[in-house]
Amino acid sequence: MPLTATPILPRFGAECSGLDLTKPLSPEEVKQVTDAMDKWGICVFRDTGMTNEQHVEFSRNFGYLERVPKREGQRMRLPCRELFDASNLNVDGEITQDKAAIQYRKGDRLWHTDSAFLEKRTSYSLLLAHQVPSKGGETWFADTRSAYEDLSEEMKAFLEDKIGINSLWWSRKMAGADIPDEEIETRFLAKHPLVHVHKGSGRKALFIAAHTMDIEGMEKEKGRELIRELIAHCTQPQYTFSVTWHPGDLVIWDNLCSMHRGGDFDFEHQKRDMRRTTVREGTEPHMMETGDDPYTELFSSSPKVVDIQGARADGR
Ligand SMILES: [Fe+2]
Repeated sequence: MPLTATPILPRFGAECSGLDLTKPLSPEEVKQVTDAMDKWGICVFRDTGMTNEQHVEFSRNFGYLERVPKREGQRMRLPCRELFDASNLNVDGEITQDKAAIQYRKGDRLWHTDSAFLEKRTSYSLLLAHQVPSKGGETWFADTRSAYEDLSEEMKAFLEDKIGINSLWWSRKMAGADIPDEEIETRFLAKHPLVHVHKGSGRKALFIAAHTMDIEGMEKEKGRELIRELIAHCTQPQYTFSVTWHPGDLVIWDNLCSMHRGGDFDFEHQKRDMRRTTVREGTEPHMMETGDDPYTELFSSSPKVVDIQGARADGR
């Protein structure tokens, strides 16, 4: 059965069905998924029945999968480094009480694109729900192509060659972590154009996120005000929708034409077990090695206030 896509907004997001994602896909079926992604930006597959292994195998159809930071001598909750743990659980599967981990996760509630803080961007994120809270915990998505197209011609011209400076720690600061600007400046900063052509569709898109700290060549306060304005523009109701999760649901989003954020839920009492694979932009399907490990490098030193237990390469 071919893939069927039912639009959520007129130009953004689709509920998809017709493919069995637990089985290896033919090249034609993979193309149906990438075509749907190019058109809709977000594809929601309900009740997939996927296991961890099937989640990873399916994701490899779209390129090289980033790996979570190496944790020498530390136990991991999930079975392989290709699965990012987006839950509120500790290594034993219990709700975490670790303050730094809780502080770190607060950043996910801000509008962002995954890995904008790395030099190599993420194309698709594939998030699979394993356990969801009884209330809240939805994920919101915003259409950065349509939002770009609706900007004034003056603004489009102004943004054309502008470069955003992105930091993971900036988004954590924006979510309330106490990290001085001077400390952020000493850590890794990733530069990406604020506007780019989305390859799969040929449409231009904004590339901004809670990680976007400054705009190159602009006075800091003016740049930050413009970033806030652009995020507010993209996240108006006509560009956004939310997905309410059930166990087994898989959502694929293309970070290069969307932003997303997690919705609130009772973090201290309800388990939310979500696992994510993360595809590196421009890599080949089923690529297993790239010779670098940017996440381990990034987390080898993190500001103390968001230093998730066990996330440091040296195990401190
Ligand atoms: Fe995210």
